[in-house]
Amino acid sequence: MAKDEIKGKILLTQEQILDKAEELGKQISEDYAGETLVLIGTLKGAVMWMADLMKQISLDTEIDFVSASSYGSGTVSSGNVVIKKDIDIDIENKHVMIIEDIIDTGNTLKYLKDYFLAKHPKSVKICTLLDKPSRRAADVRADYIGFTVDDLFIIGYGLDYDQKYRNLPYISYLDD
Ligand code: IMP
Ligand code: MG
Repeated sequence: MAKDEIKGKILLTQEQILDKAEELGKQISEDYAGETLVLIGTLKGAVMWMADLMKQISLDTEIDFVSASSYGSGTVSSGNVVIKKDIDIDIENKHVMIIEDIIDTGNTLKYLKDYFLAKHPKSVKICTLLDKPSRRAADVRADYIGFTVDDLFIIGYGLDYDQKYRNLPYISYLDD
């Protein structure tokens, strides 16, 4: 089973991630006190992180999901982003928080942020579990960041390699 192949290369444990969800959830709850917040998770990678984070947010919330893919050469994303599953709820005049798994080049997130801004929300902010700033190409940054990681190919806790490893309850990486 996949879990055995990468034993011993844990970058972040579930406990560390849960602690971070509590910390950021509290911060977000303070920052948006009295407001309603729409949480939009990016499929599929952000699912586990969003589930942890939303439990720590003590605001009125609505949740939705978006699926976007960017077509580029190899493993590097391009600016050519396509929305494969759009949100269903109306975000006009609402505060929106995009929940991401990882920001790499930033191309996907830049597109998504602009896409949601065009729907006239009150605000759009970004909360990401992981940030890989060394590879940033697009002019976009997260407002809430769980952990900054080196330029590694990250797997686990929702993140995949070829659709595998999303179910690992910790963050690991692939050796090349
Ligand atoms: P970006 O557009 O380059 O910022 O990356 C878009 C998406 O690629 C991220 O939201 C992830 O789903 C995926 N991705 C980027 N880096 C990694 C990684 O290290 N492991 C797994 N998926 C990644
Ligand atoms: Mg993603």
